[in-house]
Amino acid sequence: MRWPKWWWVVVALHARSLAQSITPTICQEEACRCDPFTRVICVCTREFPEVTLRPDGAYRVPSTATSLIMENCDRVTFLPDTVRQLIQLRSIELRNVDHVVINERALSWSPFSNRNEMNPGLRISINNCTVDEIASHAIQGRINDVIISNSRIKVLRPFAFSSLMGVNSIELSDNMFENIDIQSFKKFTVDNFILRGGEINILPSRFLSDVEVTNLFRMEGVTVKYMYSFTFLVNLPKRVLIESNHIDTIEGDAFRMVTRGPITIRNNTVMNLRKGAFLGFTVSLQVMSIMGRQELLIDNNTVTNLTPSSIMYNSTRLTLRVDGLNLNQSCSCGLADEWRDITKEQSGAISCWYEFEGYFVSLPTYVDTRCGAFKQNFWIFVVIGILILLILVAIAIFFIVRRENEKKKKVQIVMPDGKTYRETEFHIVVERAELLTTNL
Ligand SMILES: *[C@@H]1O[C@H](CO)[C@@H](O)[C@H](O)[C@H]1NC(C)=O
Ligand SMILES: *[C@@H]1O[C@H](CO)[C@@H](O)[C@H](O)[C@H]1NC(C)=O
Ligand SMILES: *[C@@H]1O[C@H](CO)[C@@H](O)[C@H](O)[C@H]1NC(C)=O
Ligand SMILES: *[C@@H]1O[C@H](CO)[C@@H](O)[C@H](O)[C@H]1NC(C)=O
Ligand SMILES: *[C@@H]1O[C@H](CO)[C@@H](O)[C@H](O)[C@H]1NC(C)=O
Repeated sequence: MRWPKWWWVVVALHARSLAQSITPTICQEEACRCDPFTRVICVCTREFPEVTLRPDGAYRVPSTATSLIMENCDRVTFLPDTVRQLIQLRSIELRNVDHVVINERALSWSPFSNRNEMNPGLRISINNCTVDEIASHAIQGRINDVIISNSRIKVLRPFAFSSLMGVNSIELSDNMFENIDIQSFKKFTVDNFILRGGEINILPSRFLSDVEVTNLFRMEGVTVKYMYSFTFLVNLPKRVLIESNHIDTIEGDAFRMVTRGPITIRNNTVMNLRKGAFLGFTVSLQVMSIMGRQELLIDNNTVTNLTPSSIMYNSTRLTLRVDGLNLNQSCSCGLADEWRDITKEQSGAISCWYEFEGYFVSLPTYVDTRCGAFKQNFWIFVVIGILILLILVAIAIFFIVRRENEKKKKVQIVMPDGKTYRETEFHIVVERAELLTTNL
């Protein structure tokens, strides 16, 4: 008896599917489980401290995964192309992980061939983690939101976030960035870009490069050591807010932004504001032609080293309003003079440090009370006046005394012969009465 040929095919197929079902997935990792919603949830323990996410082979992420949630791990590694085939995936969440490594193209996700933004996208959130590295091209494709908060980012490679599509917001809050390479955010469109709180050592040139921010660009409460020229090459924001930051140095042309609305620079403390720091702000031609020039508002900022050229701006596209600029330099008429042109336009909103009293006073007030040819030399005049007065008094006294003396000396005596002798000398002999001694 002979088995028909097709029987072997059935056996072979069966064996293959059997093999596949016994290949373990990440759901079988000790630290992980997959729930009925096909979420992959890994909560590490001391016995099982590490998770590696891989696209194929044993312990791969199953193709049905809807979200990846990693918590309390010592180390989480995303291998290249981990999420590429996960068509059901909607979110990736990392919490309390000590070492996160996101390799090249690890989170590259564009499962839908057309670029329709109505297609679902990923949400990536990283909270309270130390990220060892986000590699080049690590995050790409159809991403809804990226939220990184309370984390330490050790290395951000060039093009780490690049070629993203349909992004709603990128929010980086209260992070510590140690090494940021140039062009880490490269060539994509996002509605809102928010950099808030935390510390950044150096913001390199082209940190954001060819990024379109269509709604809000906000940098708030960040402590930065150094901001290079062309840090932000950004187009199209409707609103730009640079608020409450502490920045050591802002290089010239740090912002290269073509906006569609006003720019507000408020409540910042800057040590060195270099020439032309704000010169790169401009307004799109379209908005310019419909709504006219937009406002660049400088409100309540304290800057230590700057010159008027530091706040140069593109006056063909912007108007400048200074509502508060504290020059952290001690008041002097020279300083007032240097800032005279801008002070005149901005009526009183520019202040200098009045050392004598220990607060900021507006330059015009200082000028009114202290400067001008007369006021400036007031004390000199006072001193000279007093000196002259003293000299006059001294001279007067001298003559009076002399005259008195002469009166005493030159007594005119009329001699019997009727002649008057001047210059008669009198010798006044003082006769002394010796004291009586009682014991005579
Ligand atoms: C942050 O993560 C560390 C471990 O990396 C953990 O010890 C700490 O409790 C976490 N903090 C919060 C507020 O969850
Ligand atoms: C101004 O900035 C300081 C920190 O530099 C912050 O504490 C304060 O709340 C800010 N004020 C406003 C009105 O934003
Ligand atoms: C002005 O800025 C200083 C320092 O940045 C801050 O402490 C203060 O609250 C701000 N004032 C207003 C009215 O925002
Ligand atoms: C002002 O902006 C326009 C348009 O972006 C640009 O062509 C021009 O060179 C700018 N002017 C200065 C002084 O930067
Ligand atoms: C003002 O300048 C002095 C040094 O000249 C500096 O110590 C101080 O921190 C500055 N204040 C601000 C608010 O930048």
